[in-house]
Amino acid sequence: MKDKLTLGVLGLGEGRSIISACLESELWELGNICDINEEVCKVRAEEFGLTKYTTSYQDLLDDPEIDVIGIYTPDQLHALHIKMALQAGKHVICTKPLIVDLGETKELLEVQRRAEKTVFVGQSSRYFEPMIRQRRDFEAGKHGGLVTLETHYVSDSRWFLQKSWSLKSGFSWLYNFMNHAVDLAAWYLPDVQEVYAVGIVSENTKEWDLTVPDTIKAILKSSNGICASVSGVYAAPTLGSEIEQSISCTLRGTRGISRAGYPKLRYLTNFSPVKKTAELHTYDQRHGYYFRFEAETHHAGEYQNYIEEFARCLMQGETPKPDLEEGIRTIAILEAIDESIKTGKVVKVDDVLARYLD
Ligand SMILES: NC(=O)c1ccc[n+]([C@@H]2O[C@H](COP(=O)([O-])OP(=O)(O)OC[C@H]3O[C@@H](n4cnc5c(N)ncnc54)[C@H](O)[C@@H]3O)[C@@H](O)[C@H]2O)c1
Repeated sequence: MKDKLTLGVLGLGEGRSIISACLESELWELGNICDINEEVCKVRAEEFGLTKYTTSYQDLLDDPEIDVIGIYTPDQLHALHIKMALQAGKHVICTKPLIVDLGETKELLEVQRRAEKTVFVGQSSRYFEPMIRQRRDFEAGKHGGLVTLETHYVSDSRWFLQKSWSLKSGFSWLYNFMNHAVDLAAWYLPDVQEVYAVGIVSENTKEWDLTVPDTIKAILKSSNGICASVSGVYAAPTLGSEIEQSISCTLRGTRGISRAGYPKLRYLTNFSPVKKTAELHTYDQRHGYYFRFEAETHHAGEYQNYIEEFARCLMQGETPKPDLEEGIRTIAILEAIDESIKTGKVVKVDDVLARYLD
C-alpha cells in the first residue's frame, strides 16, 4: 500500500473544494482534474497553480497513477461516473446524492463486487466540526439512551435553479438538499423502517416550471419505535444562519441533549441533569479551515476531514463510511419520503429496496 493516495477530480464546480482538501493533506496527492467545460478547467488550474487538466474523463480512468476518483458532476450523472471508475479499477469518493434513481442499484452493487474497490459517499455534514463533536459525545454515552431527534436543512436556494442541470429530470430538492438532514437522522437511527411525509410545491418553485416539492416534513421511525422528525424548506426566505442554522441536528437522550449546526461553528449541549440552560461551544478559530473561498457556500474543510478519514480507513484495511450499501439505504429513505408525499401513506423502506434488489 502506498503511503499517499492519488486523486483524480471529476467536475470542477464544488470539485474545487476537494482539490483544496487534497493539496492541503499529507495523505493525498493530486493526480489530475477534469471537467467537460475547458474554461472551468483553466480557472481551476490557475486558481491552484496546476500544470495540467483534461476535458476527457477517460484520461483520468486510464491514468495508472490515480487510485481514487472524486466525483462532483451533476446528480444525474453520478451512477454512470461511479460505474466507469469502478470498471477502471479505481476507488470512488462520490458527493451526495449518491444516485438519484434506485434502478441503478443492482448494477452498481454488482460492478463494485467485481471490482473489489471502495465506494464512499461524501456526506459532508457529518464532517463539520460541531457534528463531529456531537457524534463523539453520543458515542461516549453523554446523551444516555436516544429518546428522539430532529434534523433540518432550511435554505433559500432558489439561486441553485440557475444551474442548467437543476431544471432537468432527476434533480429534486429532496435528493440534492434534504439529503443532508435525512443522512444525519439515519446516522443516529441506522435502522429506519417506516416513513411518513408531507410536502408541497410552493408558488416560488412553480415559477421555475419545476414540479418537485420544496417544502417537506417527514417522520422516520426505526425498528425500536424511536422517531426522527426531518424537515426542509428550500424556496422561501429564511431568517439567516445567524438566527437559524441552515442545517441542524438535535439529539434528545435520557441524560442529555445536544444541537449541532451548519454553517455557524456552534454546538450546544446540556449534559447536566439539574441544569436547564445550554452550554455553547464555538469553534470560530476553525472558520478559515472550513471555509477557504468566498462566503460559507462550499465545503473544503469537511472534504478535508472526509478524504483523510477515507485514506486512514483504506490504509488500515477498514471500510470508510458511509459506504455504497449505507448510501443506497439513505437513497431508499428519500424514495420512501417521495412516495409517502405522493400517496399520503406510511411507506416501508424495505419495500422500496425490495423493488430494486429482489
Ligand atoms: N455539501 C456538499 O457535499 C455539496 C455541496 C455542493 C455541491 N455538491 C454536489 O456536487 C455536485 C456538483 O454540484 P456543483 O454545485 O458543483 O454543480 P456545478 O454545475 O457548479 O458543477 C458541475 C461541474 O460538472 C461539470 N460536468 C458536467 N458533466 C460532466 C461530465 N460528463 N464530465 C466532466 N465534467 C462534467 C460541469 O461542466 C460543471 O463544471 C452535485 O452532485 C452536488 O449535489 C455537494
